[in-house]
Amino acid sequence: MAASPASHDLQLDSQGRLRHFLTIEGLSRELLLRIMDVAESFGSVTEQTVKKVPLLRGKSVVNLFFENSTRTLATFELAAKRLSADVLNLNIRTSSTAKGETLLDTIRNLEAMQVDIFVVRHAESGAAHFIARHCAPHVSVINGGDGRHAHPTQAMLDMFTIRRAKGADFGRLKLAIVGDILHSRVARSQIAALKTLGAGEIRVVAPKTLLPAQVESLGVVPYTDLDAGLAGVDVVMMLRLQKERMSGAYLPSESEYFRCFGLTERRLAKAKPDAIVMHPGPINRGVEIDSSVADGPQSVILQQVGHGIAVRMAVLSLSTPGGAP
Ligand code: NCD
Repeated sequence: MAASPASHDLQLDSQGRLRHFLTIEGLSRELLLRIMDVAESFGSVTEQTVKKVPLLRGKSVVNLFFENSTRTLATFELAAKRLSADVLNLNIRTSSTAKGETLLDTIRNLEAMQVDIFVVRHAESGAAHFIARHCAPHVSVINGGDGRHAHPTQAMLDMFTIRRAKGADFGRLKLAIVGDILHSRVARSQIAALKTLGAGEIRVVAPKTLLPAQVESLGVVPYTDLDAGLAGVDVVMMLRLQKERMSGAYLPSESEYFRCFGLTERRLAKAKPDAIVMHPGPINRGVEIDSSVADGPQSVILQQVGHGIAVRMAVLSLSTPGGAP
């Protein structure tokens, strides 16, 4: 089920509008800016007493989650409801051996129920692309995270959070993505979005065992020393240690990891004084980040969660024919 480069073409219709939202790669800077601008316009919707707009009235959204999720599932559900769509959440526990046919059967059954949008989370890379390639022509597919491959709505809510905190000029920003880069679909999508938006400098900071081979080819600067990687950055983007994706000995121990790569107040002092600290959640307190930093004044972690609703509203409406504001 690996995603082929050509699958990026699946995402846009003949007029260059979003058709599916599967990966950041292949999307233009203009489109990423449009997603953020539309999200900005929805920001006020989530602050009103009546939190709804009728853009997706009469449409059905199915959150098809084959893998655990708290924030992503909840914010997709709230986003769809605030657009007045009907929403169905399906948590489907599946073994990694149940592949193609089972997935396609599930899709065919849901299509028979007149579903318009699938939000898909799956442990296998390429699952959302696979569904997009095989679904009925009126259906849109949004990737809610596939294996180690991509998590494009997380990347967009991160870009939105950075833009709100640091302004629109990504070119003057130095950013450090810290932690388990190797197993992280979030890091992959963040790097693609930051490149497209013209970020000034993107660093990845991790032990050698958690950096992908030839990571420089992604246009990032690798660091294996946290203090050096954090020096003078505007944005610190922490990642969770993806223990469930690790087999074999990547690390001596969690306490050793925290000692070398855990973000403490002392380490954070290497970054610019007004640097922001981000984390997609769930947080492993005391493993990759100290509670005093996660809950501290530079943390925007809970703002990220709130922005997830506005950004997912933007993606849902822009990828639905007739749904854009
Ligand atoms: C991320 C995910 O599931 O990929 N979390 C999220 O979507 N909020 C990151 C993670 O699990 O570490």
